[in-house]
Amino acid sequence: MICNMKTIIKEAANSNYIVPGFNVFGYEDAIAVVRAAEELNKPSLLMINKLAADYMPIEYWGKLLRAIAEDAKVPISVHLDHCKNFDLIIRAIKSGFSSVMYDGSQLPIEENIKRTKEITKVAKVFDVSVEGEIGSVPYADIPGHAKDLLTKVDDAVRFTTETNVDWVAVAVGQVHRLQHTKSEINFDILKEIQNNISKPIVIHGGSGIKETDLIKMTKYKVGKINVGTSLRMAFGEELKHQVIKNPEEFDRIKLFSEPSKAVIEVTKKMFNILDSNN
Ligand code: G3H
Ligand code: ZN
Repeated sequence: MICNMKTIIKEAANSNYIVPGFNVFGYEDAIAVVRAAEELNKPSLLMINKLAADYMPIEYWGKLLRAIAEDAKVPISVHLDHCKNFDLIIRAIKSGFSSVMYDGSQLPIEENIKRTKEITKVAKVFDVSVEGEIGSVPYADIPGHAKDLLTKVDDAVRFTTETNVDWVAVAVGQVHRLQHTKSEINFDILKEIQNNISKPIVIHGGSGIKETDLIKMTKYKVGKINVGTSLRMAFGEELKHQVIKNPEEFDRIKLFSEPSKAVIEVTKKMFNILDSNN
């Protein structure tokens, strides 16, 4: 069933579990995430990032992912991740996305607040949830793409109250797209932020966070964690393996079978780590 996750993420922030949102890049990984979610009876978000939105029109993503989410046996939302473009956000809302992230993290705080506010005003009319970011989480693979800027507690408070976002993404030491190393999370800052803001916290760069830190985060007011790279790696590595193992095979439906299973496994592992009730 499709859902805007507002209530579910709020509940998660106040419970011992966190809702993972997964970046997907096609039908195969989207359906793999939903199968994993159904098997474990967990809610989740199918998230489209800039790479995916550049690859296929947002309207096509909306139709495809909405259909998958509507048929799912668990609550699934269709989310636009890290968007800096007002028009694309409007197109996503029109295309049936259930939540959007306006990423003003590279802007001065006044501008970030002003633009995020414009998005929340429009999105609320359509019952679409909004995520904003304060502070900035850098990228391991594209230095300079985003600043490395820990969230200041006062900024988080101001941003949350003035923008009326549903979820607040913060920078507490994470790094996007880490493949083989892990980030150092500053739990003191995370604690201070959670003690001072009333909205669920979102943590980006989930692939590069230590398992022990992810488990620790379930005790904090974190409602959502974004995970991308570990799924892309699982799919891509298994696909390479399949191509080498079956040099005569040209049918991509057959070649995609094992990589899709690899995505289900990584996704299930993440769901289990993020539920301390297990
Ligand atoms: O917004 C997407 C994420 O923050 C994913 O980060 O690719 O490091 O898991 P990741
Ligand atoms: Zn991110």
